[in-house]
Amino acid sequence: MSGATLDNLSTESRSFPPPEGFADQANATADWYDRADADREAFWAEQADRLAWAERWDQVLDWQPPFAKWFVGGKLNVAYNCVDRHVEAGHGEQVAFHWEGEPGDTRTVTYAELQRDVCKAANALTELGVRAGDRVAIQLPMIPEAVVSMLACARLGAAHSVVFGGFSPGALKARVLDAEAKLLITSDGQFRRGKPAPMKENTDQAIAETPSIEHVLVVKRTETEVPWTEGRDVWWHEAVDRQPDTHEAEAFDAENPLFILYTSGTTGTPKGILHTSGGYLTQAAYTHHVVFDHKPGESVYWCTADIGWVTGHSYIVYGPLANRATSVMYEGTPNTPHEGRHFEIIQKYGVTIYYTAPTLIRTFMKWGKEIPEKYDLSSLKVLGSVGESINPEAWMWYRENIGHDNCPIVDTWWQTETGAIMIAPLPGVTAAKPGSAMRTLPGISAEIVTEEAEPVGPGGGGYLVLDKPWPAMLRGIWGDEERYRDTYWSRFADQGYYFAGDGAKYDDDGAIWLLGRVDDVMNVSGHRISTTEVESALVSHPTVAEAAVVGAADATTGQAIVAFVILRGNAAYDESTSETVLKELRDHVAKEIGPIAKPRQIMVVQELPKTRSGKIMRRLLRDVAENREVGDVTTLADSSVMNLISDGLNKGKSED
Ligand code: PRX
Repeated sequence: MSGATLDNLSTESRSFPPPEGFADQANATADWYDRADADREAFWAEQADRLAWAERWDQVLDWQPPFAKWFVGGKLNVAYNCVDRHVEAGHGEQVAFHWEGEPGDTRTVTYAELQRDVCKAANALTELGVRAGDRVAIQLPMIPEAVVSMLACARLGAAHSVVFGGFSPGALKARVLDAEAKLLITSDGQFRRGKPAPMKENTDQAIAETPSIEHVLVVKRTETEVPWTEGRDVWWHEAVDRQPDTHEAEAFDAENPLFILYTSGTTGTPKGILHTSGGYLTQAAYTHHVVFDHKPGESVYWCTADIGWVTGHSYIVYGPLANRATSVMYEGTPNTPHEGRHFEIIQKYGVTIYYTAPTLIRTFMKWGKEIPEKYDLSSLKVLGSVGESINPEAWMWYRENIGHDNCPIVDTWWQTETGAIMIAPLPGVTAAKPGSAMRTLPGISAEIVTEEAEPVGPGGGGYLVLDKPWPAMLRGIWGDEERYRDTYWSRFADQGYYFAGDGAKYDDDGAIWLLGRVDDVMNVSGHRISTTEVESALVSHPTVAEAAVVGAADATTGQAIVAFVILRGNAAYDESTSETVLKELRDHVAKEIGPIAKPRQIMVVQELPKTRSGKIMRRLLRDVAENREVGDVTTLADSSVMNLISDGLNKGKSED
């Protein structure tokens, strides 16, 4: 992105205040913003006081840019905070997890059971040689043992590195090597779309040449036959079940590493994002409490992410458990065995808070509103969204068809690096606009600035930066201080801003709109146009279910906009109608956001290339749009998608 700003093209005038009666019972009120502004450190100390500390801190923040220490001198045990203290307070019988297996098996785990399971696992890990300061790699499906494993590590002061279950042996190997993990926890197999798939076979391959691994602890999930290395491999049911169900939790320093989570950059090896204990847990718990308006013992909360992503870490495990949540945990895919599975689960457990990703909401739109209509979703009170911008159209669909026009929607902006939510509405305070993450939470500070670090002001677009440290911020990239400085702190080094990599704008009322990664910004005849705005314009057309746009080299305009769209199931589209349909879409974009944003070309596709966490890989679409050989597809959820797109290319083209 060159020049001063990112053009602000679209406008949104709709806004939805909290529903009747919501504000009166909300966990956070409007005065929290001023209170936090008046004394940020006192505000965060108050939030940290929601946790149980074995030793209180002497200093809230020690900030030596770009290195922060929060709650200096404080000591706590993260697992104790997430489990034991609730049992001690008399809530042992409260359900921590309603777990739903993909094949339809279920488990109910109370806080008392969770405490016993975590203690047993901590004892087993100790027997296997795990000590405070070690690293443990975890590659497991979405089963309760995944949560138990994470908490057992936390209890022992060892850092976990969870690797998404769908990642290849190569990806696991790179992560085990980088973190020098001592133990790997995995399973025999995992269920994928109704069928058992092998897991241990792959993990064995991954650790064939990783000298740090001493043992592999294997959970039996699918009864799949597994290769076995005597002396190294241990069954979970043999090593864990026989352990005593009590374990004394030691208190660790607030800055003791809690986990490493690898996130792939656009280039190079994955970055091991390091998070520590006290500040991270404080912000994960605080945000879960205020953004979802969670009520312990009353709410039934469901975050649909996988524990392999940061959303799973902060909003399935640490935030909710610290707040004594009753959660739903689901092992499978949304359409196994049918497209109503999520709604069936909401109805079954009376889910009150549902937190998911725009990619799934758009998929629900594509499947049609008749599916959620068949279920009773009236228990829902708050709906959340995370992972990418939610297009206004998808926001409205979510509100009307899932939230029965009566649930605040919280669009939450954050990153693996920020550890917890940073920008989001407060559901009992904010009049939310469809598609906007609205404003920074109380205690958090961000700015939108130009190339020269000048604030853009209302109506302006530019780079989103975080100008003050926050408790859950990453503490570094594992083993690579230079890369940490370089990646996040060099862009605005003079100002000491953290640069998040995202473009954003303020609307005239000062609400924040996320505009996509700045690497994806298009430059058309000198106008810097955000991918998000053009995609939202396309999705607002009744025939379009999903859209991805990229800038492709163009002799006249520098770059031109090329769009890839998936049509809704009921859209009429064939050779005879294609010209009209595509022209209509191009005109629609011109009408919605201006002629400058009219796509040069629109291609109708069946699928879009997405990473396993649901983000569109625009780099690959740029290769197609510029007629290049398609680049590295190894991180795609489905690598055959690019072939489908290239094959279908000549069918759906529209050019002037
Ligand atoms: O580009 C932003 C987008 O996802 C990036 C962070 O990705 P990751 O580290 O995988 O974490 C995802 C879960 C927090 C951000 O830099 N992103 C995330 N949430 C939003 C978003 N973009 C727009 N709106 C959001 N609510």
